[in-house]
This record gives sequence, structure tokens and C-alpha cells, in this order.
Amino acid sequence: MGLEDIYTQIIMEHNASGRNKHHIDSPNLVLKGVNPSCGDEITLELRVKDGKIEDASFTGVGCAISQASTSIMIDLIKGGTVEEAKEHIKTFMGMIRHEITDEKQLESLDEAVALKNISHMPARVKCAVLAWHTLENALAKKS
Ligand code: FES
Repeated sequence: MGLEDIYTQIIMEHNASGRNKHHIDSPNLVLKGVNPSCGDEITLELRVKDGKIEDASFTGVGCAISQASTSIMIDLIKGGTVEEAKEHIKTFMGMIRHEITDEKQLESLDEAVALKNISHMPARVKCAVLAWHTLENALAKKS
């Protein structure tokens, strides 16, 4: 199986699993994000305590790319610190913009590297970054 197939499989699995798509107990940071191109919306729910993201989930609708990207992001940030989440956002955006291409640097993104080639599909870039932009805005409200 080639790398492209593995990436496609990761995206399809996250889109189908829905394991991060639910409500969480006592969220204290909830933010809706809209993809202006299509009008699809997701809502992130986070429970942040003492600088740590104790729990996270999302609800909403969108295409497979947006749903998978949101789910992958949640796996990455859940249980980590707010500062780590901010670093992940920076790295992910850098990857999407082709500013960060170093494999070692991208390793920290784990499964999110599956979205690396989305920049070849300009119409889908907004789908891929929707969750990450929403998280960035949510965390900015917290600080
Ligand atoms: Fe709406 Fe991708 S088409 S989020």
C-alpha cells in the first residue's frame, strides 16, 4: 500500500468512526466555526483546566475532509496542554501552506500528516483547516 493510500484510509476511517463526534461533560470552551465556502459548520467542545485540555469533542456537519480533519485534531490535542495545541495548530497551518515540509517537524502532527496533500486541492483547503481555525479562535478567547 502506498503512502497516499494510507493517508486516504486514515481520512476515511476518521470520517466513518465518529468517535470524537458527541457532546462532552461540562465543557467550558465551546466555539462554532463556519466554512464560508460551503456554509458547513462544526462546533468544538473543550474542557480546559489548569492549562490542560482534559476532554474535547465536536458536533456539526461537513464533508469527509472536514469531519476527518476535526476528528484527527481532537485525537491530537486531547489530554495535552493548551500550549501544545497551539504548537500543533502552527505546524498544521505551516504544512498546509507548504511553509513546513521537514518530515521531522511534521512528525508531531501524527495522523494529521494525512492532510498534507490537500493544498493540491485548493477547494478543499478551507474544509481541512476549519477545525484548526476554530480551535485557534477558541484558545485565543481563553487567554
Ligand atoms: Fe463543506 Fe467541506 S464542503 S466543509
